Amino acid sequence: MIKVTLPKLKGRKGTEKISMVTCYDATFARLVEKAEIDSILVGDSLGMVIKGEENTLNVSIEEVAHHVSAVKRGAQNPFLIADMPFGSYQDSVENGVKNAVKLVKAGAEAVKIEGGSEVCPLISKLVSFGIPVVAHVGLTPQYVNKFGGFAKRGKSEEERGFIMDSAIAVEKAGADMIVLEGIPEALAAEITGNVKIPTIGIGAGTETDGQVLVIYDLLGMNADFNPSFLKKYLNLDSLVTSALKEYRKDVVSGK
Ligand code: KIV
Repeated sequence: MIKVTLPKLKGRKGTEKISMVTCYDATFARLVEKAEIDSILVGDSLGMVIKGEENTLNVSIEEVAHHVSAVKRGAQNPFLIADMPFGSYQDSVENGVKNAVKLVKAGAEAVKIEGGSEVCPLISKLVSFGIPVVAHVGLTPQYVNKFGGFAKRGKSEEERGFIMDSAIAVEKAGADMIVLEGIPEALAAEITGNVKIPTIGIGAGTETDGQVLVIYDLLGMNADFNPSFLKKYLNLDSLVTSALKEYRKDVVSGK
């Protein structure tokens, strides 16, 4: 696989769709690279799928950096993005820069930040220092306590206007790409047409410049997690359980 860079990804807007998955360890990263996926996101979803927590709020910058360096050892060619976790940038732009630098030193090539106008000063500062930024609007899981859960956003005209304004604001501040999560397909299409940077959708229909999924979700590692937007490409939940049962049987029988 040839190294994927940010200019290459940005140059693909409107011509070739961008594939992205989340990944948290070197073993999966090696397979993601073998599959020639364009980009890896070390998401703060690690709080839920790795640590088993209810939401993403209790993830630290050190934990994200730890997983970024593992992923980097497994794959060097996909473009590597790391999430800025909750609490790592809210108090000041200075602290946000300091924490983004930690992720870059761990191997990230860009950082992802949830929010709209409230994160624009940080986005501008980071891009001025050569740290690319992926913005994230719509269903922003770090705002779970405000929204009262992980339901889709953009149901009212007012909310759709807010999400559109947020997308335009983060582009203006210098963001290089935008993740659009959990919003109506028509709104995602409109945003994609209104901004010059690539949009990456999750639960936002097919009209974006690319797609991202949590790797464990697309591999079907949790039979009980079935959101309407998710296509499972494997059913690893039952495959792994059967393999482990067979192993256990062999151990018990002394085989
Ligand atoms: O943390 C994450 O994995 C994400 C993606 C779902 C976009 O933010």
